[in-house]
Amino acid sequence: MELLINQILALEEISAALDPSLEDRDHLNNQVQDYANGFIENTESNKAYFQGTPDKTKLGIGSNKKELKELLDAYTKEVVQKGINPASGGHIGYIPGGGIYTAALADFLASVTNEYAGMYFGSPGAVTMEHELLDWMKGVFDFPQNAIGNMTSGGSIANLIAVTAARDKHQIKNEKVTKSVIYLSPQVHHCLHKALRIVGLEDVQVRMLKLDANFRIDVDGLAQEIENDKKKGLNPFMVVASAGTTDTGAVDPLQEIGELAQKNNLWYHVDAAYGGFFILSESKKHLFKGIGLADSLVIDPHKGLFLPYGLGAVLVKDKEAVFHSHHYTANYMQDATDNGQINPSDVSPELTKHFRALRMWLPINLHGIEPFVACLDEKLLLTTYFREQLKTIGFKIGPEPDLSVSYYWYPSGGDENAFNEKLIENIHADGSVFLSSTKIDGRYVIRMAILSFRTKKETIDKAIKMLEKCVGETKQQLN
Ligand SMILES: Cc1ncc(COP(=O)(O)O)c(C=O)c1O
Repeated sequence: MELLINQILALEEISAALDPSLEDRDHLNNQVQDYANGFIENTESNKAYFQGTPDKTKLGIGSNKKELKELLDAYTKEVVQKGINPASGGHIGYIPGGGIYTAALADFLASVTNEYAGMYFGSPGAVTMEHELLDWMKGVFDFPQNAIGNMTSGGSIANLIAVTAARDKHQIKNEKVTKSVIYLSPQVHHCLHKALRIVGLEDVQVRMLKLDANFRIDVDGLAQEIENDKKKGLNPFMVVASAGTTDTGAVDPLQEIGELAQKNNLWYHVDAAYGGFFILSESKKHLFKGIGLADSLVIDPHKGLFLPYGLGAVLVKDKEAVFHSHHYTANYMQDATDNGQINPSDVSPELTKHFRALRMWLPINLHGIEPFVACLDEKLLLTTYFREQLKTIGFKIGPEPDLSVSYYWYPSGGDENAFNEKLIENIHADGSVFLSSTKIDGRYVIRMAILSFRTKKETIDKAIKMLEKCVGETKQQLN
């Protein structure tokens, strides 16, 4: 026994390093805080995009322990100064991430307290907070309070939960799969195609819908497709609309699609991952009319509420449809179930989950909703400003977007696709502002996606200067 106790005590001494003393914590905290402050103070003068690949020898697990200073150094050089800086206002490509400071503080607390956010029994407070946030979103998006929902890691998993529910509600399995039809916009986010494969619906029939000149679903075209499929004896079961497409910022006609879906008994899913929170903007509210007709809805606070990556949300009206695949119990969980509560783990593939509700709850309560709405309105006006400025330096711009994503290209004459492809290479090499490219109807174009809370008028002016310089370089290189 004495030997055993001595062994335990010896190990206790070594493992104590995992629980630093108050003094050691202060020392670590100060270094990290200084680091964060330096990062934030310099982020706008720094590049938004860094080319180069990380030195993997600096990012592995070494055989010796290291000082925090050395690790932060490696972090700066090999992580922060490689690729896109998503915390920069100069990130105007893809769909920008956020990273507001107070959400980082919430993440710190979530990790320190390590609340178990997967089940009510484990943390009634954390789960209640998640439910309160979901209830708030139900109010915002005109969903009934008895809908259920989940705070996910992002839009892809949220869409996956919705697609699973649609499949289970309509019992799309066995020989029904190949006869069933889903209606999608060619502009739908690719995570929906991915979700179909993941849930075993790779072989359903996918109808790519006609779009109008602004990339919104043509509702008459949709009605016609449904009619044709019914006549062929097929089983139309789901339609997906987007409230903010990733490439073109379009909001589909949500009300009309919803009515058509109801009439034809289709599961109506709305992917509002990018655009959803623009519903809070008075100037855009009208575009979201009918969103409450959806059977399921995805919204991403890590996009439209400027939170750091790692927070999406899904709302679903039919609880049983979601429970069919996600609600389970097991002997080892008998203490935690049977308490009449809806657990996040009943609504998602996750059991253990990061306490991600805190990073939304703390900032909204601390700042109030007003600065979030102002920031969304600001992004919309900056989009108009950017498009106007682009015209003055000779760019052609795509149709006016519903929200804050749009595209443009330089009409160089000759092979315009090759010119714009070279242009984006030069833009990336410059890196002061990050822009991305896409193809629209075969045309190689450059995208703007304005959603970072740090994107300001000054950022747009910088982008315009950079574009002018890069056009000049491209002309020289191709002549
Ligand atoms: C419309 C839309 N849906 C879904 C997603 C996927 O979300 P996530 O990247 O959070 O998984 C995105 C991402 O940009 C998006 O724009």
